[in-house]
Amino acid sequence: MSDMLAPLLCLDSSADRGESVSRRLTAEFTREWRRRGAAVRYRDVSADPVPLIGEAYARLGRRVERRGALSLSDIGRLVAGEAERREWELTRPLVAELRAAGSVLLGVPMYNFGVPAALKAWIDRVSFPGVFIDPETGRKLLGDKDFVVICARGGAYGPGTPREGFDHQEPYLRAYLTNLGVDPRRLEVVSAELTRVGDVPALDGLADLAAASLAAARDRVRELAGSEPAGAPEAAGID
Ligand SMILES: Cc1cc2nc3c(=O)[nH]c(=O)nc-3n(C[C@H](O)[C@H](O)[C@H](O)COP(=O)(O)O)c2cc1C
Repeated sequence: MSDMLAPLLCLDSSADRGESVSRRLTAEFTREWRRRGAAVRYRDVSADPVPLIGEAYARLGRRVERRGALSLSDIGRLVAGEAERREWELTRPLVAELRAAGSVLLGVPMYNFGVPAALKAWIDRVSFPGVFIDPETGRKLLGDKDFVVICARGGAYGPGTPREGFDHQEPYLRAYLTNLGVDPRRLEVVSAELTRVGDVPALDGLADLAAASLAAARDRVRELAGSEPAGAPEAAGID
């Protein structure tokens, strides 16, 4: 993993705070990072929801987009009126937090074949036009950060399963993050499947597969959490 000096941003999104598999796995990861002295910045978008974007966000976004990538300060200078000011005040800290992270860890349950609305609210807000591009050089600001996405899903979605093709969680997150500028070689996705065995009668008989999936996910998370920093320290962000 890269840059241990800049914080690891860990974002959880499960509505379940008791038995969440994704939360358990992100906690294992962050425990290992803290043990090694890394700073961890934590955000829980389920407990502390990100407000949905409003009309003024879209209006400001259009105005900014017409000018190309701008610094956060220059975007601030384009804000017009109280509603846009409110939207930018909700947006800028989340953008700055993501830009300042050395690495990013996302805990993501599958809800209705996709990602939770709580995570999507963060995604819609943080993905403000141009804010992950250096306006001076055109460099992608997320391109040298490591991203680890930990997915949990009640069912199974591999080749040959009845729900093959229904997975709009992992492919969506890969498409979204790489489009935002994340280097696909620095994006790791770990999935624990069949987490609802024991609750959902249709999954009876799949307990061994569920246990194997969870064990493999946990092994991979430990491996990723324990790997040594790869990159040189980077600047915390560009304003
Ligand atoms: C609102 C809701 C919708 C869900 N939809 C799906 C689904 O479409 N497919 C699936 O495989 N599991 C689904 N599940 C099960 C969760 O993916 C599963 O419980 C997973 O472990 C949740 O992540 P967590 O353990 O980190 O909370 C759903 C659960 C909830 C609460």
